[in-house]
Amino acid sequence: HKVLVLHGPNLNLLGTRQPEVYGHETLDDIDNGLYEQAALGGWEIVCRQSNHEGELIDLIQAARLDGTAAIIINPAAYTHTSVAILDALNAFDGRVIEVHLSNVHRREAFRHHSYVSLRADGVIAGLGSQGYRAALDAVMAG
Ligand code: DQA
Repeated sequence: HKVLVLHGPNLNLLGTRQPEVYGHETLDDIDNGLYEQAALGGWEIVCRQSNHEGELIDLIQAARLDGTAAIIINPAAYTHTSVAILDALNAFDGRVIEVHLSNVHRREAFRHHSYVSLRADGVIAGLGSQGYRAALDAVMAG
C-alpha cells in the first residue's frame, strides 16, 4: 500500500507561478494534504518534485522495485515532450494516474497531446489541486 506522487519541472514554483492558471497553493500545501489523506487511508506515500527529466525517470525506475502500487504523476511540460518518461512508465507494472492542475485542452495546441496518456490508467485535468486528491482517492479505493 504505497503510492508515489511525482511533480515535474517548474511545479516547485507553485503559489507564485501564474497563479491565475495554477492557483495560489504551494507544492508543500498540496503535498501536506496528500500526506494527511494517505495516512487516513492507511497508505504510505512519497511525494517528489524534480526539474530534471532523468531524475523523474530514476524515481519511476526505483518504484518498480520497492513495492510501489501506483504512481500519480504531473509530468508538467514533459507531458508533451518526453518519450523517455513514457518508456519508464511502461516498465512500471502498477497503476498510473496523470494529473494536470490546469485544463490542458483549453490551452495552447501543444499542450493537447500527452505522451504519458498513452500509459496512464486515468487522467485528471483542470481541477487544480483537487485533481491530486481525486487521484489519491482512486488509488486507495483500488
Ligand atoms: C501542467 C500543464 C503543462 O502543460 C504545463 O507545462 C505545466 C503544468 C498542469 O499541471 O496544468 O507545467 O502539467
